[in-house]
Amino acid sequence: MTLNDLPSLELDAFTAIEAALDEATLRDVEVQLLGKKGSVTGLVKSVAEAPKEERAELGKRSNLLKKAVTEAIDARRSHLRDAAIRRELDDRTFDITLPGTVPAAGTLHPLTLVQERLEEIVTAMGFTVLDYPEVEDEWHNFEALNIPADHPARDSHDTFWLHPREHKLLLRTHTSPGQIRAMKETVPPFRALFPGKVFRYEAVDASHEHTFHQIEGLFVDRDVSVANLIHAMTVMLGQIFSATVEQSEPKRARTAANVKVRLRPGYFPFVEPGFELDMSCLLCGGTGCKVCKQSGWVETLGCGLVHPSVLRAAGLDTAEWQAWAFGIGLSRIVMMQYGIDDIRHLMGGDLRFLRQFR
Ligand code: DAH
Repeated sequence: MTLNDLPSLELDAFTAIEAALDEATLRDVEVQLLGKKGSVTGLVKSVAEAPKEERAELGKRSNLLKKAVTEAIDARRSHLRDAAIRRELDDRTFDITLPGTVPAAGTLHPLTLVQERLEEIVTAMGFTVLDYPEVEDEWHNFEALNIPADHPARDSHDTFWLHPREHKLLLRTHTSPGQIRAMKETVPPFRALFPGKVFRYEAVDASHEHTFHQIEGLFVDRDVSVANLIHAMTVMLGQIFSATVEQSEPKRARTAANVKVRLRPGYFPFVEPGFELDMSCLLCGGTGCKVCKQSGWVETLGCGLVHPSVLRAAGLDTAEWQAWAFGIGLSRIVMMQYGIDDIRHLMGGDLRFLRQFR
C-alpha cells in the first residue's frame, strides 16, 4: 500500500464504525479493520515493503490511523451500550420497581445462634467470654482437674491422643481445662464462660458425635454456695428456653413454661459436691424418644463446687477462694430448641439442613 491508498482506507474505516448500529456488528467491523487479516493491520504490515522514500511517512500515518480507529471503535461501543440501557429504561413494559434477585447469603449455624444467645445471657450476669485451645496437654485436661492417669473417669473420656504420645498432647475431651487456665491467668474474684469444640473417640450415632460443643462456666469468689449455683443455673436455662424458642420455632411454640429441670447428685472428679442437671426433653415433651433414650429427660449439664485440689492446682488459696462451675452440652440444647433428632446433622455440613436457619 502507498500513501495514496490512505484516504480511502480511512474513510471506509470510519464509515463502517459509524454505520454499526449494535455491538455485534461493531465487533465484526473491528475484526475487519484490526483483526489479523484486517485492512488497518494490513496497512501497518505493508510499511516494510513500501518504497523507501514513503516509508517513514507511511509508518507514522498508519500508526496514527490505527490509534484513531481503535479509539473510534471504543467510543462507538460505549455509545451503543449507553443507548441500549437508555432504550431499556424507556421501555414501558420494563418495571424498574420490581425487586431484584436476592444474592445467596450464608446463615449463622444453629450452634452459633444458641451460643451467642447464651453468651448474651451470662454476660448480663457479669461473665466474661474466654477462648482456650482445642489441643490441650494431659495436665490441664486431666491431672489438674483431679483426674490422675489411673482414675476411672478417664474411661469415659475416650481420648484422641496426638503423636508422639510422650508429648502428652490431646484434643481436649471437655471444656473444663479452661477452668485451670482461667484461674491461673485471672485475678479473683471473676466470672468466666468458655465455649468450644470438644472431641471424644466415640462410636457415632443419633446422640453421639466425636466432635461436639460444650460451654463451661466458672464463678470464683469468696463465700460461694450451692444455693448461688442453683439460682444461676435456673435463671440461665429459663432464659435460654424462653425467647429463642419462640423466635426460632413458632410452629412448635415451646416456651420456658414447658421446661422442667431436675437435679441429681452427680460425680465429677473436679467438683464436690457435684450435680447432674436434667431437663425435660422438649423434642417429645417427656414421653420418650430417640434423643432422650425414651426416658423423657435429657442430661443438660454437670455442675458443682470446684474441688479444693483443683483450686490449689490452679494456684488459688482455698482458705480465701471458692468456686462453682458448670459444663453444658451445647449440641444437646441446640437439638432440643430446634427439634433436631440426630446430632450428626450439626457437623454434617448439609446445606439443606443449614439453610433452614435463615
Ligand atoms: N467436663 C464435664 C464433662 O465433659 C462436664 C462438667 C461437669 C463440667 C461438672 C463442669 C462440672 O464444670 O462442674 O462431662
